[in-house]
Amino acid sequence: MGSLNVKRLLSARIEAALKDCGVEAPALVRIASRPEYGHYQANGVMAAAKSAQAKPRQLAGQVIDRLDADDLIDAVEVAGPGFLNIRLRDQFLGDRLNLESPVIGKADRPQTVVVDYSCPNLAKEMHVGHLRSTIIGDAVARILEALGHQVIRQNHVGDWGTQFGMLLAHFGHSDADSETLSDLEAYYRTAKARFDAQPDFQAASRAMVVALQAGEAGARARWQRFIKISLDHCQTLYDRLGASLGPEDVMAESAYNDALPDVLKALGQQGLLTESDGARCVFLPEFRRKDGGITPLIAQKSDGAYLYATTDLAAIRHRAQALGADRALYFTDSRQAFHFKQVFAVARQAGFAGAALSLEHMPFGAMLGKDGKPFKTREGGVIKLTALLDEAEARAMRLVREKNPQLGAEEQAEVARAVGIGAVKYADLSKNRTSDYLFDWEQMLAFEGNTAPYLLYAYARIQSLFRRGDVDPESLGGKAQPSAAAERDLAFVLARLQEVVEQVAEDGYPHALCAYLHDLATTFTRFYEQCPILAAEGGERSNRLRFAQQTARTLRTGLGLLGIATVVRM
Ligand code: ARG
Repeated sequence: MGSLNVKRLLSARIEAALKDCGVEAPALVRIASRPEYGHYQANGVMAAAKSAQAKPRQLAGQVIDRLDADDLIDAVEVAGPGFLNIRLRDQFLGDRLNLESPVIGKADRPQTVVVDYSCPNLAKEMHVGHLRSTIIGDAVARILEALGHQVIRQNHVGDWGTQFGMLLAHFGHSDADSETLSDLEAYYRTAKARFDAQPDFQAASRAMVVALQAGEAGARARWQRFIKISLDHCQTLYDRLGASLGPEDVMAESAYNDALPDVLKALGQQGLLTESDGARCVFLPEFRRKDGGITPLIAQKSDGAYLYATTDLAAIRHRAQALGADRALYFTDSRQAFHFKQVFAVARQAGFAGAALSLEHMPFGAMLGKDGKPFKTREGGVIKLTALLDEAEARAMRLVREKNPQLGAEEQAEVARAVGIGAVKYADLSKNRTSDYLFDWEQMLAFEGNTAPYLLYAYARIQSLFRRGDVDPESLGGKAQPSAAAERDLAFVLARLQEVVEQVAEDGYPHALCAYLHDLATTFTRFYEQCPILAAEGGERSNRLRFAQQTARTLRTGLGLLGIATVVRM
């Protein structure tokens, strides 16, 4: 059996007691606003009293009388206008630390969840926006999977459109296509320069688009080769980042090409299509602007071309009908918020997605340089992600050499990789995704604060403790039991992993898990200061070792859910 969601368990008990008092209302259980009030507080009684026209403090008292939770609760009292302050039992907290159980508990009702993330455009260099999508989307995908949901990753890469005409016409121009394509930005510039300077190249580019769209074999083969090389470059980056994306997760825009005429037909049958300047559009009144006009979704341009939105409609239909998804999550930057709002609305109207499918855009802000301006190279160019990861590892290597010069070269490289890549990912994950995010090397590589190095170090320090004490943490056996105050605090943090993970699965904000892990590491440090471990003796020593072991496991599991690898020495 996996971990329990303590918050949910408490809510259920309190709601049952409320029901016994004749009111059906949510318990609204939260972490206590101050530790001296206890572990949790329930805020729901006030609203419940209002709906039942009862006195809040009186109802709170009745709820306590009817509360069946002696196995969980040590003390519960009414506070202020009708809050319940709740303190958990030591025994219950101790039971949460059962070392034999897998750390994450499974969801009661597993769902099928499509996670649409990364999604670079293969005609252009993958940019920092795709990096954010890859990192955040991957963490949420891992978390959903750990909870037992069936996750279907969909890397909706842009591999179609007129921009490929020029790129493909230029393709084959150099002997080493793979090498030139490894710098797509430069490749694009060269192709563009030819396009601007050479009229016959321009004509060739246009002819290429026509041939490609007509399915002409030569053009298709060339396009396929181009896409394959580009995707291989993306895969190298995913592997290096430790993103759980593989070739099997690619479901490119072009995969929906054949479905597009039918999408148009279905829109037409639903009476949703209107012709406007030769284009076929969907006008929904909910997208009326202040000036009175409606912003339409353009499904097909006057020249017959389909658009980004049309493909997304086809993708939704596929996800609902073929994949049987309960939820589809989309990780893109917030500039696409309107696009998704509109596509989701049209998909519902057209019946592509029924009520059983929840469509959720999970937007994120821009990545900014330390100066608060868009993240660019000094020359104003796009930051190459490979170069960015190289720099992360090089900086981490300097830190590792400084901190632990006696490590062997191979281990230094491994640690530098974990710290460097971990720092880039964690810095992104630890901020509220909807805000813009300042990319700052010093901050992300600091050994203090809510950073990857701090957490990785906390984990490695526990491992070093085991080595020093000659302890095999896997064979400790038994259960940890809190008795000292610092142990109780630590036990409470440890007991909360499940509720945090379930929350991230629901709302897609991994920074809550980061904040939790940081809280865990600092609580452990306080425990370690107040409760000597190796110097303790007998039962006390093994009890504290179990706390250390459970902390290490929780850190490793938590970081693993974020896609961050731990190291045993730093
Ligand atoms: N390729 C798009 C871009 O780079 C992102 C695609 C996101 N997913 C989707 N289903 N539209 O902006």
